[in-house]
Amino acid sequence: MAKLWGGRFSKATDALVDDFNSSIRFDSRMYAQDIAGSKAHAEMLGRQGIIKEADAELIVKTLSGIQSDIESGKIEFTIDAEDIHMNIETILISRIGDVGKRLHTGRSRNDQVALDTRMYLRDESDNIVSELEELKSVILSLAEEHLETAMPGYTHLQKAQPITLAHHLMAYYEMFKRDTERLADCRKRMNIMPLGSGALAATTYPLDREFVAEKLGFDGVTQNSLDGVSDRDFVLELAFCLSVVMTHLSRFSEEIILWSTGEFGFIVLDDAYSTGSSIMPQKKNPDVAELARGKTGRVYGDLMGLLTVMKSLPLAYNKDMQEDKEQIFDALDTVKMCIPVFAKMIATMTVKKDAMLRGAKGGFTNATDVADYLVNHGLPFRDAHSVVGHMVAYCIEHDTVIDALSMEEFLSFSELFEEDIYDAISVDACIGRRSIVGGPAAQTVKKLIEKYKK
Ligand code: ARG
Repeated sequence: MAKLWGGRFSKATDALVDDFNSSIRFDSRMYAQDIAGSKAHAEMLGRQGIIKEADAELIVKTLSGIQSDIESGKIEFTIDAEDIHMNIETILISRIGDVGKRLHTGRSRNDQVALDTRMYLRDESDNIVSELEELKSVILSLAEEHLETAMPGYTHLQKAQPITLAHHLMAYYEMFKRDTERLADCRKRMNIMPLGSGALAATTYPLDREFVAEKLGFDGVTQNSLDGVSDRDFVLELAFCLSVVMTHLSRFSEEIILWSTGEFGFIVLDDAYSTGSSIMPQKKNPDVAELARGKTGRVYGDLMGLLTVMKSLPLAYNKDMQEDKEQIFDALDTVKMCIPVFAKMIATMTVKKDAMLRGAKGGFTNATDVADYLVNHGLPFRDAHSVVGHMVAYCIEHDTVIDALSMEEFLSFSELFEEDIYDAISVDACIGRRSIVGGPAAQTVKKLIEKYKK
């Protein structure tokens, strides 16, 4: 097949080069954005009198027809036409001849691919934001159910202080909330229209760039033609945002995996969201969480790959940049697959409240509260810390816990202890007293959930 750019060549490209060079295998997914961009460009060319209005109308109409033929599976793309841009243009020309040949006036594939990529990533990033919103609402309802479900909080994966499951879940809510905000911020820089940059040095035609931008839902137009065709910051930034989403999913997954072990026993995953072993009949494995954790590595890889592709490219367009697509698409596809299955996995898990409460009670999780008790009775905190440290050592030696000490034993460590010490260091009291903004007390978390629900 003759190349659209074949004029100056006397030989056909080698078949290997056609295969090597072409991107249609992976960029065909941008067909809708490519067509929308071409329609807006054609309409603008007609309005500006750069091509005849009637030609513009015919181009727009034919492009719509091509889109429905693509969607009903009537069109097969070919590597001979290299990429989605030239595949669609070739089909257009095959349908309306010379009129179709006028579409590419004042445009280059370099600004066209920048346009299509921005539009495609914008749409996909919006889809991911909706998935995150779904996940956030799953977390909110779970948290609402578990406002009073005590569990141990950890530092260094050692029991630290009692919290509630609601409080723990809401930590992830905050992370996913920032993720949606980060994506919205990234979208602002992505949503700038590059068409009119031409190959690199803009164009001599009086294009109405603002018209095209508005037509395609952009917030503005790029201000430097070299930058317009060679900027892929928005791809890098999106890959970073997606990597952070995966970091959060992966940390959460890690906890799901730990919590569902026999050793923790805090949760039981639903049968529909776990898998068995081909040899060990007793096994029920948290594969969904493990895969989400594992796929995080793949999304980080996409980010690193993209950064590396871009790192030494001289201005303006270089074909290296075609390598951006598979990596960012892979990152998008991966995140898009992980979020909903993860959301369903946590929505259907069974929480073992007794095991969580047992965990919250063991391991001296109330030691800080014993020290706070002494502080409230006048002892400086450092002294109180030391007294309770000795109590903990005593308990370890006698294989007991602070709550189980007798009043005499308490008094042997400090005369400030009174009978009310037992109530003061119960799990409920420890959690309930932490009612300041950001704390785990049920009332505090409840208020926050109500605020977020609005
Ligand atoms: N398929 C190309 C890409 O993804 C489109 C731009 C090609 N431009 C060029 N001058 N070869 O980057």
